[in-house]
Amino acid sequence: MTQSFAERRARLMGPNVPTFYETPVHLVRGEGAWLWDASGKRYLDCYNNVAHVGHCHPHVVQAIATQAATLNTHTRYYHDLVLDYIERLTATLNHGISQAIMVCTGSEANDLALRMAQAVTGKTGIIATDNTYHGNTAAVSQLSTRRPPIGGRAPNVRLVPAPDVLRPLGGSLAAQPQAFADNVAAAIAELEAAGFGFSGIMLCPVFANEGLLPPEKGFLDPTVAVVRRDGGLILCDEVQPGFGRVGSHFWGHDALGFAPDVVTIGKPMANGHPVAACLARPDVMAAFREAFGYFNTFGGNPVSAAACLATLDVIEGEGLQSRAAETSAYLMDRLRALRHPLIADVRTAGMFFGVEFVQGDLPATAFVAELVEDMVARGFILNRIGRGANTLKMRPPMVFGIAEADLLADALQAALSTR
Ligand SMILES: Cc1ncc(COP(=O)(O)O)c(C=O)c1O
Repeated sequence: MTQSFAERRARLMGPNVPTFYETPVHLVRGEGAWLWDASGKRYLDCYNNVAHVGHCHPHVVQAIATQAATLNTHTRYYHDLVLDYIERLTATLNHGISQAIMVCTGSEANDLALRMAQAVTGKTGIIATDNTYHGNTAAVSQLSTRRPPIGGRAPNVRLVPAPDVLRPLGGSLAAQPQAFADNVAAAIAELEAAGFGFSGIMLCPVFANEGLLPPEKGFLDPTVAVVRRDGGLILCDEVQPGFGRVGSHFWGHDALGFAPDVVTIGKPMANGHPVAACLARPDVMAAFREAFGYFNTFGGNPVSAAACLATLDVIEGEGLQSRAAETSAYLMDRLRALRHPLIADVRTAGMFFGVEFVQGDLPATAFVAELVEDMVARGFILNRIGRGANTLKMRPPMVFGIAEADLLADALQAALSTR
């Protein structure tokens, strides 16, 4: 009897290893914004931010291959490329952030950010939102709300209500920035009273995992004022919005107009090669280096650095940030024109789109689950987010253009028209 792929995977990897979709997709090849499965079926990738400059971009592939054929070592020798990269990357950052620790995953970068906040403040209290994901290390998973930690959440962690477009904190979109800040202030007071003190807040500037909040200049100003008043650090998780995805700016925090103390990056930075980084001002970095001995065998090795540099080359050379702004505006027009009675909101943060569906007062969770499966069957890779998992999530590679936007919008309207 032929063993199914799912059985083989479970036998070798254990149960409950996440895959997307009821019928998981078995991919074998990618190019630009397109993916192919083992049967030869072609999909338009409307979801994957890791392949930021397009699947298998030849410039990145060549850079990896050339460096792998020249030298790859661990990171405790001198090598130019990692320095070239940090110099070039930090030139895109404002706010005095000019140094980096290179790691391999966004989770590790966020783990370091938490430790930087501890090193600077000497405190351990930390705040995040109550509907988020920042990674999978023991410390960072305390801030990730997908599953409750065994033994309960650590007492030095406070989760504040995430902002929301349809059910805004404080009762209105206008009141939401202050209401969010008020909740942060209350959480800080609790942490102080409990004896942990306040080390910082970790947040994604577009609240991507929370359900996506369109970047609005000044939205976080009241929160930043509270954090500054109480001596904590702002740990800005740019794993999703960074590298031009928001279109208007290279970084999400610049779109909102606030100054983080620490910036973490990962997924898109080397177009799929596993590398990430925690970026900080020199004073923050010095406090961290003083408090913790730290090295990372693979983080920023010569091949990773070559992949990072090549990805930056493509973002700049192909004008992908401005292309993101153009495609975003075009696709938003098309998404706003979609017709279906359950559509409650259509929103964007550059090349990141959400279409939220509600049924009466309730999230249309099952409806969106079925819509996603239908779209995948039609050859469109996408998914869903939000507290009720009722928001269609589209976050394609940055090479996704007007032609692809039309294909997606036409297919979505066709799928919606059947239900
Ligand atoms: C906002 C955010 N931060 C951090 C991470 C963790 O990154 P990694 O999976 O590379 O550890 C993720 C992963 O989904 C993420 O969405």
